[in-house]
Amino acid sequence: KVLILDFGSQYTQLIARRVRELNIYCEIHPYNKIPSDADSFKAVVLSGSPNSVRGEAVLHPKLDDIRGKKPMLAVCYGAQYLAHFSGGEVAESNTREYGRANLNFIAEGEDFFKNISEGSQVWMSHSDTIKKLPTGGKLLASTADVENAAYKIEGEPTYAIQFHPEVYHSTDGRQLLENFLVDIADCEQDWTPNAFVEETVEDLKVKLGNDKVVLGLSGGVDSSVAAMLLHKAIGKNLYCIFVNNGLLRKNEFTDVLKQYEGMGLNVKGVDASARFLDALAGKSDPEEKRKTIGRVFIEVFDDEANEIKDVKWLAQGTIYPDVIESVSATGGPSATIKSHHNVGGLPDFMKLKVVEPLKALFKDEVRRVGASMDMDAQLLGRHPFPGPGLAIRILGDLTREKVRILQEVDAVFIDNLRSWGLYDKVWQAGAILLPVNSVGVMGDERTYEKCVALRAVESTDGMTADWVNLPYEFLQKTSNEIINKVKGVNRVVYDISSKPPATIEWE
Ligand code: XMP
Repeated sequence: KVLILDFGSQYTQLIARRVRELNIYCEIHPYNKIPSDADSFKAVVLSGSPNSVRGEAVLHPKLDDIRGKKPMLAVCYGAQYLAHFSGGEVAESNTREYGRANLNFIAEGEDFFKNISEGSQVWMSHSDTIKKLPTGGKLLASTADVENAAYKIEGEPTYAIQFHPEVYHSTDGRQLLENFLVDIADCEQDWTPNAFVEETVEDLKVKLGNDKVVLGLSGGVDSSVAAMLLHKAIGKNLYCIFVNNGLLRKNEFTDVLKQYEGMGLNVKGVDASARFLDALAGKSDPEEKRKTIGRVFIEVFDDEANEIKDVKWLAQGTIYPDVIESVSATGGPSATIKSHHNVGGLPDFMKLKVVEPLKALFKDEVRRVGASMDMDAQLLGRHPFPGPGLAIRILGDLTREKVRILQEVDAVFIDNLRSWGLYDKVWQAGAILLPVNSVGVMGDERTYEKCVALRAVESTDGMTADWVNLPYEFLQKTSNEIINKVKGVNRVVYDISSKPPATIEWE
């Protein structure tokens, strides 16, 4: 396995995903929390960072046990760090070094650049530049603007690059990572979905034995794949609970429940719509709505779990991005923008041990693991949907009528995305019911009705997102259909904000 030390770069997770795509397992750890089993890692990658090695906020990793002993690849900040503190020199660069560049020199006979030729495009993103290589440094590659674009340290398996091999625009980035990880560090490429399923199912069998496990299904990809893995391992000892909080999409509860039953899962559908909607009545603050839903969910889930005799474990579909401890620009934990952390799970009073079979996987890996278990492609391809559901897409206070309106609007939008072949091109989509009425005219009548916004974004992880350029004709047809079909709506708008500065959800 490979250790990635994070210095807070926005690209750190991308490095990990690229490594995993080569079927090599890797873990991300903060630069100042090198894991105690560091010896079991075959190679180490140092990430980039928003910080400068010349400023006040230098991030100093303790590399004594690693450097020279394990193959190391230092990217961007990592490369500057090695240079600056080991006899080289880093200075502010005169020209901005952002965006694409081409390697116009590559040293001959280096495994590191195997199958990569001069002219190869790389992606730069830095404002400091390496003026002088560190002691023992040998130049491996240059671009027109950046002489020291890549170097190695003679006599050590240490390599450093100023550009970002993990981004798509570095066209030979994958080859470079492969050269380093496979040829130089001798990593095995055995991290495949099938191997993961086999290994995980065996581990779960040993860990859980004859114990009973309860799992909350949400209809989403993560909990569904977690359920399938557990089902393979312990069969009927897995008790799944699928709660209808009354804030799901139109027909979702019955459709998804049927699908789960078809997969052979031991699943109980609990319709608690009234309990949720009653608890939410009169509440309009987004955080209060979220907390109310969280609390009622725990109550409902707890009641149901208590019905299962002798249950010992709680299974959760937590995935890797939820547990990565990342380094923010200030070196501290990042600010909580919205209270939607899945980590931590349910409160102590449930007194169950927690099992999280997907804790090491990225979302795309969860999908691949699901596919390798022959799970339905439509289930695996579902857009993410927030736990509080439509509650945070109905701005302000909730009523049953508003939920009905939004379910209808959302259904038209999503059905149209599917029939136009756009659903899989969009990362997440949904409709938002705005707390304003506006004047319209239908027939000869003046109307004063609700306005809805449609939102469709592309993203890889929800951290950043951009609105999707949906065809005008699609928007036109969808808008028409919504206003004609859904009573109570007379205006449709399309949200063209990116995240940041907006967020994906409106609350
Ligand atoms: P934002 O609105 O923060 O959303 O840009 C990013 C992603 O997170 C989802 N989201 C939630 N998921 N509980 C959840 O389980 C929540 O309270 C919640 N709020 C936002 C959102 O749908 C998007 O995918």
